[in-house]
Amino acid sequence: MSSSDAPKKLWGGRFTGAVDPLMDAFNASIHFDKRMYAADLVGSMAYSKALAKNNIITEEERDTLVNGLQQVMDEWQGNKFVIKPGDEDIHTANERRLGEIIGPLAGKLHTGRSRNDQVATDMRLWLRDEASAILAHLKELIAVTVARAEKEIDALLPGYTHLQRAQPIRWSHFLLSYAWLWHADAERLEQLIERLNVLPLGSGALAGHAFNIDREFLAKELGFRGIINNSLYAVSDRDFVAEFLFWASLTMVHISRIAEDLIIYSSSEFGFVKLADAYSTGSSLMPQKKNPDSLELLRGKSGRVFGGMSGFMMSYKGIPSTYNKDLQEDKEPMFDAADTLSGSLQITAGVLSTMQIFPERMRGALSADMLATDLAEYLVRKGVPFRETHHISGAAVKMAEDRGTSLDTLTVEDLKTLHPSFADDVANVWSYETSIDNRTAPGGTSKPAVLDQIKKLQAWLAQGKKL
Ligand code: ARG
Repeated sequence: MSSSDAPKKLWGGRFTGAVDPLMDAFNASIHFDKRMYAADLVGSMAYSKALAKNNIITEEERDTLVNGLQQVMDEWQGNKFVIKPGDEDIHTANERRLGEIIGPLAGKLHTGRSRNDQVATDMRLWLRDEASAILAHLKELIAVTVARAEKEIDALLPGYTHLQRAQPIRWSHFLLSYAWLWHADAERLEQLIERLNVLPLGSGALAGHAFNIDREFLAKELGFRGIINNSLYAVSDRDFVAEFLFWASLTMVHISRIAEDLIIYSSSEFGFVKLADAYSTGSSLMPQKKNPDSLELLRGKSGRVFGGMSGFMMSYKGIPSTYNKDLQEDKEPMFDAADTLSGSLQITAGVLSTMQIFPERMRGALSADMLATDLAEYLVRKGVPFRETHHISGAAVKMAEDRGTSLDTLTVEDLKTLHPSFADDVANVWSYETSIDNRTAPGGTSKPAVLDQIKKLQAWLAQGKKL
């Protein structure tokens, strides 16, 4: 294509030389930012109204613009929008098409506006919607987890520290530990949506709007809670992207950690859980294998999201004020994190709602030595200082170990050699249920404490009750 018949660039006024076609492709963002077409058009519709409100255009012109923009919207939605060479990004593509539909009046739309305040507005609109959809997936995941915790409250298994058996806990308590992490993620996401929901539009390229556009009106039209109060800040701030990427990374870390737990629990050595066929795959070589691919992918994708965050932070850090083209690098990580989170949350909910548990295997993994703390606590209840009881219980563990037997087979006489306060009622210590249900303080693994957690999370899910 020679420079004379090349499509006219929106910013082409002062440029005479042709652009290197490679540079054209390098510069273009249309292939990824086209997914913001609706936000871009909605923003332009509101902007048309604001222009008319300030008598920059007539009401008739406003209606023509809005109707034309609606036609462009219909084309996108009907998959009929044709991207043309020269459509550098979604903003230029929509404006070019509007011009084809309504003629030269389209040229009035951009009065006082720059792609700098436009793109910042589009991104906030887009992420506001997308983050709300992601929030719904997250709440669904929490609901699935809580429902499961309620149903399986009687299943007991070892609680681990250092991946060593530590103390008996309820399976529900384990599940809810993730529900609480995700609850915190949901709170953070709600706050993030609230924070990003302010309007950059009406800031011009950087210095502000020369036609005194009514920015409060624009904010209202677009559902923003207010305006950004400094035009330089408005066009260059991408903290909301950074925050979203961090949020996505942290939420993926939580998903990755439960994935790791469940991968371990689904191994033959543990056998606590079995994934539904819908979320596993076989091996092409070994017929006996059932692999937890869903969980491995979830764990793997946490790295991808974190990579998007760190990459963006590197692009963001060295930029002088205000808009610089580096900022175009904000979109792909944002889109990718949104897609990955949306998929990962739904897959995690699918895995959690369909997997099978094996309570007898869980229970079978409990061993009497896990009650050593309870043995110490038994003496505490008899008035012995805890530091001393810890030693005594340790000596009991050693005695059992030396004899090659299990802790609960030591007789009262054996124990009495360690401390005179041991009596026949020590037999009551050797119950996993008692150990668990002694942990009655809020936040513990006793049945009432777990039921209380369930009630709280259910109230939050149903009525948004603050926790
Ligand atoms: N495609 C650009 C971006 O995503 C839009 C803003 C362009 N602004 C400019 N001054 N070149 O950042």
